[in-house]
Amino acid sequence: MTGRRGLSVDVHLGPADIAAALKGDARRGLLAHPKELPPKWFYDELGSLLFEAITRLPEYYPGRREREILRHHAGDVAALSGADTVVELGSGSSDKTRVLLDAMAGVGLRRFVPFDVSEVTLRSAGAAIAGAYPGVEVQGVVGDFERHLGVLPSGGRRLVVFLGGTIGNLLPEQRKVFLTEVAAGMERGDALLLGTDLVKDPARLVAAYDDAVGVTAAFNRNVLAVLNRELGADFVPPRYAHAVDWNVEDERIEMYLRSMGDQEVALPAIETSVAFADGEEMRTEVSAKFRRSGVEAELGSVGLEVQRWWTDAAGDYALSLSTR
Ligand code: SAH
Ligand code: TRP
Repeated sequence: MTGRRGLSVDVHLGPADIAAALKGDARRGLLAHPKELPPKWFYDELGSLLFEAITRLPEYYPGRREREILRHHAGDVAALSGADTVVELGSGSSDKTRVLLDAMAGVGLRRFVPFDVSEVTLRSAGAAIAGAYPGVEVQGVVGDFERHLGVLPSGGRRLVVFLGGTIGNLLPEQRKVFLTEVAAGMERGDALLLGTDLVKDPARLVAAYDDAVGVTAAFNRNVLAVLNRELGADFVPPRYAHAVDWNVEDERIEMYLRSMGDQEVALPAIETSVAFADGEEMRTEVSAKFRRSGVEAELGSVGLEVQRWWTDAAGDYALSLSTR
């Protein structure tokens, strides 16, 4: 907990837990065929800054679309949810969330609970929100939303928000587990506001994850810098190309790091080394794109019913509000 008035931070993922989890994921993912890494490791301090830069790219439309929907419907969300507590999963900078907090601050908002795996990001976002909303108690939680949903503070009437299309970064099986836990933690009267990017022209989708300036490429390679720092690995990031594919069948963007040349990487912290063949790809992220019927079915299967479905004017992105 920290002392600042109106702000507290509970850390459920300290340096030792992070090191242990990263070792496990690196062992599993780098020794697998094909190789893969979970996307949560992108978000160290630099990675979080690079993500903020991504949201300013002309190609990266989802954030702007989501903000447009929030501007139009934050008042509806406030009125329909009647919440006094907002819990935000994968909160990041919580910048767009302010549109919602603005609409709720006048009508009974008492508590904001940002939850993120990145402690630096959470602390700076939490302090900024506490400063801007003096009447709102900010109770930050540092944790992994695939492991620590159970520690979220209870009490009050809660609106759980999950923005940025981050739900699409979970694989279908992980999504099912995650949504089951979110729903189980909701009481009657609680609501879920979920942001989902929608299926559209693949060229626009690919461009959003493969921008002309190369910010997303830098973000992707940053995971190698995280492995170097945390596990003493010796990846040479410029020897991996940023690669993006639209998977038609699964309707998702897939992001890879492609080895340029044969190379061998030492991972002293897990007492191993791994070989990358020339052209070999390691999957670093998926970003599923959705259709209304799919979102309704996935939420329905965990006992959540969609009450409202809003899109931006162009129909690129959707926010849904659901209840148990
Ligand atoms: N909600 C913000 C940020 C989206 S980026 C927005 O819409 O702009 C995804 C955020 O989720 C990052 O802040 C990242 O640190 C966080 N995140 C990713 N995986 C996570 C996990 N497993 N548990 C908790 N937070 C996670
Ligand atoms: N949740 C975001 C998304 O899937 C995260 C993101 C945006 C992202 N751009 C990225 C993750 C590029 C990795 C690489 O849209």
